[in-house]
Amino acid sequence: MQTKVLWALFCGLLLNSALTALAPAQFKPNYDETKIPSYSLPAALVSLAGDRVTTAEEWRASRRGEVLQLFRQHVYGRSPDPSPQMRFELVSTDDQALNGQAVRKQVDVLFTGRADGPRMRILMYLPKTATAAVPVFLGLNFNGNHSVRNEPGITLSTSWMRPGEGVENNRATEQSRGSTASRWAVEKILQRGYALATIYYGDIDPDYDDGFKNGVHPAFYRNGQTEPASDEWGSIAAWAWGLSRAVDYFEMDESIDHQQVAVLGHSRLGKTSLWAGAQDARFALVISNNSGCGGAALSRRRYGETVARINTSFPHWFCGNFKKFNDREEMLPVDQHLLLSLIAPRPVYVASAQEDQWADPRGEFLSAWHADLVYRLLGTRGIAALQMPPVDQPLKTGAIGYHLRSGEHDVTDYDWQQYLDFADLHFDRR
Ligand code: GCU
Repeated sequence: MQTKVLWALFCGLLLNSALTALAPAQFKPNYDETKIPSYSLPAALVSLAGDRVTTAEEWRASRRGEVLQLFRQHVYGRSPDPSPQMRFELVSTDDQALNGQAVRKQVDVLFTGRADGPRMRILMYLPKTATAAVPVFLGLNFNGNHSVRNEPGITLSTSWMRPGEGVENNRATEQSRGSTASRWAVEKILQRGYALATIYYGDIDPDYDDGFKNGVHPAFYRNGQTEPASDEWGSIAAWAWGLSRAVDYFEMDESIDHQQVAVLGHSRLGKTSLWAGAQDARFALVISNNSGCGGAALSRRRYGETVARINTSFPHWFCGNFKKFNDREEMLPVDQHLLLSLIAPRPVYVASAQEDQWADPRGEFLSAWHADLVYRLLGTRGIAALQMPPVDQPLKTGAIGYHLRSGEHDVTDYDWQQYLDFADLHFDRR
């Protein structure tokens, strides 16, 4: 299985370099710090009307809402309220999971309440020794819940799957059980007293550009609407919306401490966890793993992936309005440090990988560094460094955590180790 995953990763890398080589001149990524355009970032603490924001109260009462609105309007798009008919169905419970160490639950969220409507399946692992509600790490997965762990009790995803190992005709096969287990440190998470909850992102919206005909979007169209308006939700916003629906479920499940939900995601799903955390304050801690462009990285640096490139390769991820900023990053009324600022004062952790230059590690750090201003205004210790830390030297003590891991674009045990430490430090662990 390990070799298969490596092979799939290798093919992914090849594909990425091939795309880069084929890219038209304007898409040639810049990896040279000396060629970063000079830029000035939109100020976190100056309102649209030009007034200085000097108190936590002013940030909370007006500036925060303004910034959130700008991201909705220009970057990710507005999402609808959940349907009042939404309901949950317990699919299975097994208290002998992981060789008797864990309780495994699967729960369906029926977004419109209709059995024939869109639904997502939450897979949960809970520590068996828990005597009270436990804090939880929640993250979307790329390859189906069954890929997280090789356990026959996990149902095979029936949603559309990206072609790849263990996928035939865009359907998951038995072959892919446990294929991404290295990215989910289930035992470690449980041993430290946390639960893990994960959902296949394709349950919410399949990750390809079909004009928003499948997934959750159509269920929320107004009469006669056939696609989202240019300021309405793209796929990232839909995935983030799905994460909030999982919290709606946690609020009903007594085994989960819904006041201590950490949301995390890798890459496009890291962009998603940040947007989820920015919009929904019920996420008590937010983690971005190698999220890059449209995630933690500053767009104005144009280092590695750019706005034009991401909107061209993945036209369905952001809202229609975001395309207006292709090659015009300086016109954006926001940059990604403001996305992190929206999460303040709740703890946020940004992780980069040294070989993941496409995601601009330095731009990810700088974003965290610039968000420090808002974190401090709100009374936290912000980020615990003046400069980007050396590789493999995590900053965990401030409300903004950061590390640059050696190695490539991935989620590893090392990353999980830092996230668990960070959660231990910032959650109330009685
Ligand atoms: C591509 C894309 C990135 C994204 C990544 C992923 O590389 O350009 O923006 O983060 O896919 O989600 O794996």
